Amino acid sequence: MTQRTDILRSVVVGYGHYLPERVVENAEFEATLDTSDEWIRTRSGIERRHFAADDQHTSDLAAEAAKAALVNAGLSASDLDAVIVATSTPDLTFPSVATMVQTKIGMEQGFGFDVQAVCAGFVFAMSTANGLIISGQAKRVLVIGAETFSRIMDWTDRGTCVLFGDGAGALILEAQSGTGTNDDRGILSSDLNSDGRYKDMLFVDGGVSSTGTAGKLRMQGNALFRQAVEKLASTADAALTKAGLAHADVDWIVPHQANIRIIQGTAKKLDVPMERVVLTVQDHGNTSAASIPLALSVGAASGKIKQGDLVLTEAIGGGLAWGAVIIRW
Ligand code: UT7
Repeated sequence: MTQRTDILRSVVVGYGHYLPERVVENAEFEATLDTSDEWIRTRSGIERRHFAADDQHTSDLAAEAAKAALVNAGLSASDLDAVIVATSTPDLTFPSVATMVQTKIGMEQGFGFDVQAVCAGFVFAMSTANGLIISGQAKRVLVIGAETFSRIMDWTDRGTCVLFGDGAGALILEAQSGTGTNDDRGILSSDLNSDGRYKDMLFVDGGVSSTGTAGKLRMQGNALFRQAVEKLASTADAALTKAGLAHADVDWIVPHQANIRIIQGTAKKLDVPMERVVLTVQDHGNTSAASIPLALSVGAASGKIKQGDLVLTEAIGGGLAWGAVIIRW
């Protein structure tokens, strides 16, 4: 059978990330909360996280990650057609963080918009970018996950405020022709889900049209934990099946970094050993939509993720919204 050469694939041609300077170790919380480094470490796997400075906004973090990705790709802002930012913590109610990033990186053409699917935001943004590329609407798309979750913490709630951090990660996707087989580089499949009936498990108790405030994050951690492992494994399986791939084909799982025990439980269900999972949760905490691109960038920069590797990303968060994207790096 002759292989097709007219299939467009969204290939990763650059990656980068940015973490704010301020590092907060678990022990710092012991001064103000009834908690301990030991509890946080053993229940979540988190050891430290970064917090943005007061004058640093989500678009600043996003723009730094974007600049790093452009340098990594050997491209300039004038080479991009679109910017998609996954975030739930925008600088302003509007305009989008993506348009602010355009200005900060000197991109005067194309278009930008934000995607809001909370911790699953990056997989939704990647899938959206892939749609733009394979339909011929954009040749190069900068996809960013960027958050300042420190701004929506209730600092008196030990069940949430010790878990989250700030940061940004970015990928540049480029249209390249493929053969249509799962040997192609690029995004091979995605699987997206949401179900609003789970709203109370993870939400922010304020908003523009309700309270007129930004609100604080509320979470039923234990109930969400139980949903997470089931839903992450099933969306990962769905994405693998769509691409005609099996568990044994996975070189790296790059999961949403919320909790080491969720990551371990999901990897076990997928029969992938922990040696093939990229972990950043210990150093970054849960950075919501930024966590997967941060982990991809750290994993690639460290030499773990190499060109041609099969990478499975999966995430779940508020909505609930969850999904997976399979990338041949
Ligand atoms: O990014 C979106 C996805 N997010 C997630 O998937 C998060 C999912 N949930 C989790 O990661 C975990 O459920 C947590 C890390 C949030 C909590 O771990 P857990 O093993 O589910 O603990 P728990 O909520 O059942 O709480 C156990 C105990 C409770 O005390 P009692 O009621 O047994 O006396 C909590 O009050 O731990 C207590 N606790 C704490 N103790 C010390 C809760 N937070 C803390 C804390 N320090 N920071």
